[in-house]
Amino acid sequence: MTSPHPALEWWKTAVVYQIYPRSFRDTTGNGTGDLNGITERLGYLSDTLGVDAIWISPFYTSPMADFGYDVADYTDVDPIFGTLDDFDLLLTEAHDRGFKVIVDWVPNHSSDQHPWFVESRSSLSDPKRNWYVWQDPKPDGSPPNNWQSLFGGPAWEYDNTTGQYYLHSFLPQQPDLNWRNPEVVAAMHDTLRFWLDRGVDGFRIDVAHFIMKDPDLADNPPAAPSNGGAELTTMSGYDDWDHLHDKGHPDVHEAFRGIRRVLDEYDGDRFSVGEIHVFDWDRWSDYYGNGDELHMPFNFSLVQSDWNPAAIRGRVEGLEAAIPPHGWPNYVLGNHDEQRLATRYGSRNARAAAVLLLTLRGQPTIYYGDELGLRDTDVPCEQAQDPWGSRVPGMSRDGCRTPMPWSSVAGHGFTGPAAEPWLPFGDDADRRNVGTQIDDPSSILNLYRRLLRLRKERPSLHRGGIAFIDNVPDGVLGFIRADGTEHTIVLINFTDEVKRTSIPDGATLLISTDQKRAGIRSRVIDIDPTEALAIDPEPSA
Ligand code: NOJ
Repeated sequence: MTSPHPALEWWKTAVVYQIYPRSFRDTTGNGTGDLNGITERLGYLSDTLGVDAIWISPFYTSPMADFGYDVADYTDVDPIFGTLDDFDLLLTEAHDRGFKVIVDWVPNHSSDQHPWFVESRSSLSDPKRNWYVWQDPKPDGSPPNNWQSLFGGPAWEYDNTTGQYYLHSFLPQQPDLNWRNPEVVAAMHDTLRFWLDRGVDGFRIDVAHFIMKDPDLADNPPAAPSNGGAELTTMSGYDDWDHLHDKGHPDVHEAFRGIRRVLDEYDGDRFSVGEIHVFDWDRWSDYYGNGDELHMPFNFSLVQSDWNPAAIRGRVEGLEAAIPPHGWPNYVLGNHDEQRLATRYGSRNARAAAVLLLTLRGQPTIYYGDELGLRDTDVPCEQAQDPWGSRVPGMSRDGCRTPMPWSSVAGHGFTGPAAEPWLPFGDDADRRNVGTQIDDPSSILNLYRRLLRLRKERPSLHRGGIAFIDNVPDGVLGFIRADGTEHTIVLINFTDEVKRTSIPDGATLLISTDQKRAGIRSRVIDIDPTEALAIDPEPSA
């Protein structure tokens, strides 16, 4: 069926796949993934799986204090991941396949090993002193204010050389850049141009709203017990404060307009998505600006949601009501900072979650390995890597970052048979891997493949509107997607019981989480426990 509407920008209809490069595919046998590994597996992503774009987490020069989110050179590749030539090859091959490539950009902080910071900390009068946020101690020698690091402890580190503190919203090895200094703005814009000139299609912007703080560095007030920000659980003193002053200052919108102007210097709909953990819909939607700021702020609301129809519907309706007319929605169910969705919702629900993610209105991002139903791995203490986990017990992100299991052989096709992977594989990697799932028509991988095909084929799914269906049994979520006269009905049973509901006469089954389900015959359908279905309501001609 043809769509009655004009073509949309690529990023509106694309399905994005997030790659954590350390964990995707290691071609050198050192136990850590690399860029050539991604290039090697582009066929899996485009032909086998069928996604449209990849977002690659940082691969820049870095001492790896935060596994690449501490950048020591914004315009080069860390040797552990390869070279700039390897990146160019990846980009060319991806583009040849019609693929879009989104790279990570980390503007809030650099590494403490970045030459800018090395210079900045060298003396009070260094020309780069004001590139970072330096402050005198209070008279008693304590930090300048009460701001906390998200990774635990004060956000200020005392520097003996010059007798001042510097700000670090994350690790002490990640000093915050001073976005109020026009020289920093210009230098960071140039780092965008470096990758845009090479041909990247967009940026995922790390902790985007952190870049602008209160210029007077006012203390944060204590958090009110009902503060919506409590949804961001850090299990440290961070949650005790209402983060009014240490991020998201209104001036951030002018900074984003500047970033957008850089992207708009280039043709080809270059795209930006900001990592913005704001859960108040009005404040969240401000980050779209008037179509002149970020193309979208990431929507993390489903990651925070309970797995039940009322909670999910509430979040989707909240988002739909908040999106400005020029805005476009997006959904994520997992990433390199969150528990895997199969752990959060339970393995039985991972299939229904796939249906939800790939049938809602807006751009979905799939986290690598979720298409296999990977769960978090219990990483023993002696193999632990994540600095957050070592600073704040319970906050380790290692479990969701373990290597992609491609096959059942030693090294699981991720690394060489004798190599030690940087994090251990999940204990089910012998059974749960690409090789075993690809030949099994009922595997979750094949469900993802069928869903991705369906989404591409049906305009209602990749671009249509959404409306919820009220007349569904308790425990079932129902919604209808529509593009002109083409419709898709989605029904998800969240319960452990069979749920009976009526469907239009002559409707046909498009997909079920149960690959063995036969077609639909009557006007009534019994939805199995945890089953999700998509249906074409129109009688076939
Ligand atoms: C958010 C990233 O997603 C996370 O992995 C990182 O540790 C922090 N920002 C600091 O850059």
